[in-house]
Amino acid sequence: MKTTPIEPARIERSPEGLPFAPVFGDVYHPRAGALEQARHVFLGGNGLPQRWRGRERFVIAETGFGLGNNFLAAWRAWRDDPERSERLDVLSVELHPPSADKLCAWPRDPAVAELADALQAQWPPLTHDLHQLQFDDGRVTLHLAFGDAARWLPEWVATVDAFFLDGFAPDRNPAMWDARLFRSLARLAAPGATAATWSSARAVRDALRSAGFVPDRAPGVGGKRDITVARFAPAPTALSRPPGRPMARDVPRQALVVGAGLAGCATAWALAAQGWPCRLVDRHAEPAQEGSGNLGGLFHGIVTPEDGPHARWHRAAAMAFAPVARAALADGVAGSLEGLLRLEFDLCDAAAMRARLASLGLPPSYVEALSADEASSRAGIALRHPAWAFRDAGWIAPRALAAWFLRTAAVPVAWQGGADVRSLARDGRDWCLLDASGAEIARAPTLVLANAGDALRLLGGADWPIRALRGQVSVAPADGLALPRLPLAGAGYVLPPVAGQAVFGATAQTDDADPAVRAADHVENLGKLSRLLGAETGLDASSLRGRVGWRWTAIDRLPVIGAVPDARAVAVGSTDQPRRLPRQEGLFVFSALGSRGIGSSVLGARLLAAWVSGAPSPVGASLMDAVDPARFAARAARKSISSARAARAER
Ligand SMILES: Cc1cc2nc3c(=O)[nH]c(=O)nc-3n(C[C@H](O)[C@H](O)[C@H](O)COP(=O)(O)OP(=O)(O)OC[C@H]3O[C@@H](n4cnc5c(N)ncnc54)[C@H](O)[C@@H]3O)c2cc1C
Ligand SMILES: C[S@@+](CC[C@H](N)C(=O)[O-])C[C@H]1O[C@@H](n2cnc3c(N)ncnc32)[C@H](O)[C@@H]1O
Repeated sequence: MKTTPIEPARIERSPEGLPFAPVFGDVYHPRAGALEQARHVFLGGNGLPQRWRGRERFVIAETGFGLGNNFLAAWRAWRDDPERSERLDVLSVELHPPSADKLCAWPRDPAVAELADALQAQWPPLTHDLHQLQFDDGRVTLHLAFGDAARWLPEWVATVDAFFLDGFAPDRNPAMWDARLFRSLARLAAPGATAATWSSARAVRDALRSAGFVPDRAPGVGGKRDITVARFAPAPTALSRPPGRPMARDVPRQALVVGAGLAGCATAWALAAQGWPCRLVDRHAEPAQEGSGNLGGLFHGIVTPEDGPHARWHRAAAMAFAPVARAALADGVAGSLEGLLRLEFDLCDAAAMRARLASLGLPPSYVEALSADEASSRAGIALRHPAWAFRDAGWIAPRALAAWFLRTAAVPVAWQGGADVRSLARDGRDWCLLDASGAEIARAPTLVLANAGDALRLLGGADWPIRALRGQVSVAPADGLALPRLPLAGAGYVLPPVAGQAVFGATAQTDDADPAVRAADHVENLGKLSRLLGAETGLDASSLRGRVGWRWTAIDRLPVIGAVPDARAVAVGSTDQPRRLPRQEGLFVFSALGSRGIGSSVLGARLLAAWVSGAPSPVGASLMDAVDPARFAARAARKSISSARAARAER
């Protein structure tokens, strides 16, 4: 999906004193009041609050987030309802989001004022991404897409129970009432889904009808005679979902997770947030003893000229990670969230870097381009290169973070350490974990493999292009070294002092299984450190300590997250779209976190939890495809389809 800069909302005051969008020539809500309209049209028109009662999850999708009044009204009604669903998910899209200060510049009804403050406190940077905002201990999630609805609706992956149709008036903003847009909504609709809008325009009813909804009139509010309500009742043939998409499954809510590094611990935490208790199995007595066991590691976004899937994944991941890191740091996990500088060695001039940010539409609340002098003053030491300054970024202690995920999981995680899983077996609908003697370690109908590269072995030698990169980190006493106030990255990295130590590195070696800390690697790390600091450190390699680990990395440097494809079925029904490929029932993987596993842990775990539980996906369909384990088979199929075409063309 191509990204474009986001233009923030221009909001003026109409003659009646209402928020008014000059670009569209329309008001955000009628004189009767935003809350009045939300309650009567959008909640009442969709049969709420009654319809969410007694349900595990209720999902609302809205076109046009505006000032968020409908979201706040829905959240208020859900909070006030003792029979509410366990979870409420609201998807919304906004082409011109207000800046954080404009969001709350208009007076709110006292009933939602406190909620509006909570919304403002989490208001994300205005980037062209799907942002997740979580409230009420994670039971309410707002999935907020910034950009054009025509672009985003086909990207949403969710099963929606109620639609709030709230673009401006159809004659002023026909794009929001386009028949194609309604077809995208129909693709998301759950059986029995409903829709409501204040518009009673005939064109709106016709577009709803053509997408499989049955529209009806209902009495209006605030002087409006009638509104439109609709029920989803498509022709039976129209209901088909690709097999490679998350779906609520009829199984007990209980999962087994193998591997207690960051991937497994974050997965258990994210599944718990969806009401799924887990049993977490690892070969070590304690979590995070392997790849996730370093003293500290960085988390930050990324800027690339083309803003492809890699940049979009790591941006979304960084934005999902920051609020969680903030909570973990506040709870005593070591680290900092005061920003990070990534030195730029190719674009030697901050003006060129700023031009890149402008063309990508990345705002300073996400990243800034700094000259070497500006970067030096942020770092507190003299730097020789310009830098990308990532705002909500920093460093954190991964082992402590893994433990924090387990400690703060919404439902308790059962820990089973010292259990080396040698093979998997299928018994009925259960997945069984077996030890070296073939004895059963644990079983469940839902299994997540989060055991890094060993997942490939357990999957019977899956031929995914994933390899191990050996990495050695170096550690030295920080006294006498001019270390930066913020973490520095570029060719290698260095952290601010960690408990009186300088932590820097790291090497990256392929086909290297040597677990020993090596002097030659310290020398290499000292070279990286001097380049970052722009000066020799005078440290002697023989005085350094270190730690070795492996980063499992896919060829496209994206993690592998989702339901495991069914290799036999893939061979038969070859298709070039991951989402069309059949899956093995109940078997999921979260692996290949590469050298950015800290930053990817939260978003990856939430995506995995969406696969398992059927929750709305925290990323759009194209990013989901980009990290899907079925992408490798889909690429192979694409290659064979195009070579067959080329061969035909030659004949
Ligand atoms: C030198 C180095 C520096 C790094 N720096 C950074 C950084 O600055 N920022 C960043 O974001 N990332 C960094 N990373 C990457 C990051 O640490 C990893 O991506 C991340 O830790 C991977 O987590 P994981 O849970 O997938 O794997 P692991 O932490 O390796 O966890 C896998 C778990 O599975 C268990 N397991 C495996 N097989 C079995 C089995 N058969 N039975 C039972 N248990 C099993 C293991 O015991 C282990 O606990 C760095 C990595 C290295 C090596
Ligand atoms: C009536 S207002 C929505 C009010 C909002 N639901 C609320 O509760 O505050 C309509 C919104 O649709 C947005 N919009 C218009 N065209 C759009 C498009 N093509 N894609 C996404 N949003 C769009 C406008 O910017 C505006 O914020």
